[in-house]
Amino acid sequence: MDFSNITIEELKAQVNLEKLPRHVAIIMDGNGRWAKQHGKARVFGHKNGVTSVREVTEGAAELGIEYLTLYAFSTENWKRPATEVEALMLLLVQTLGREVATLNKNNIRLQAIGDISKLPPRTKKALLKGIEDTKHNDRMTLVLALNYSGKWEILEAAKKLSEEVEKGNLKTEDINDELFSNALSTQGIPDPELLIRTSGETRLSNFLLWQLAYAEFYFTPVFWPDFRKKHFVQAIIDYQQRERRFGKISEQVSK
Ligand code: FPP
Repeated sequence: MDFSNITIEELKAQVNLEKLPRHVAIIMDGNGRWAKQHGKARVFGHKNGVTSVREVTEGAAELGIEYLTLYAFSTENWKRPATEVEALMLLLVQTLGREVATLNKNNIRLQAIGDISKLPPRTKKALLKGIEDTKHNDRMTLVLALNYSGKWEILEAAKKLSEEVEKGNLKTEDINDELFSNALSTQGIPDPELLIRTSGETRLSNFLLWQLAYAEFYFTPVFWPDFRKKHFVQAIIDYQQRERRFGKISEQVSK
C-alpha cells in the first residue's frame, strides 16, 4: 500500500483497535548511516534518534499499545569506539533527565532489561531514577534494553533455575515454558507480537531470542532518525493484515 500522501489521522483510522499487538519491540538501526548521509559524525545520528524515540513512544501510547521495548544498547555495542560509547551513555543520561517529566505527563512507566550493573554510574543512576519516578504509571510501559543480549539473558535464566535445582527448591522435570519465561528479565511482560527493525537490515542481532519465538517481523529501509509516528502506524497496519497461525492451519485460526 502507498502511504506517502496520507495523513497520520487517516492512517490511524485504518488501525483496528481490537487487534492491536500488546507488545511491540524495535531494533533502532541506521543512526550511523543517517549521520554519514548528512555529512556528520555518528553521534549526530544518535542525537536525532532521540526524536524518533519520543515520536514512537507517543504514537504507541496514543494507539493503546501496552508495552514498547527499544533496543538502545546491546552487549556487543561496547566494542564500538570509546568516544561513541561515551557519547551514547551521556545521551542516555541527558535524555532520561529531560524526558522523565514527559513520561509522567503521559502516564508511561519506564523499565529496563539487560545487565544494568555494568553501565557507567551516571547512566545507571539516571535510569534507576527514571524507573523509580514513573513506577506508578499504567498507560503504557516503555522498556529500554540496555547492555542487553538475548543469549546472556537465557544463560542467566538457566543459571538461576539450575541453582534452584541444586538447592532442592525445584525439580529439573518441572522446568517448563512458563517457569523459564519467568526467569527472564522480561518476567511479567507478554511476548512481543511484532518486531520492527529499521535501516534495511534483516537480522535479529541477539535481541529477545526467547520472547520473539512467534513474533511477526517488519523490516523497513527507513533509517531510525527518520522513523516517525506515521511509519510506526504503518507497521501496525501491516501486522494486522497478516494471519498469525502459531503452527496451526489457516482454517483453524480463522474460526
Ligand atoms: C543503531 O544505529 C543505534 C544504536 C546502537 C543506539 C540507539 C540509541 C538512540 C536512538 C539514542 C538514545 C536512546 C534512548 C532510548 C533515549 P547504528 O549506530 O548501529 O547505525 P548504523 O548501523 O548505521 O551504523
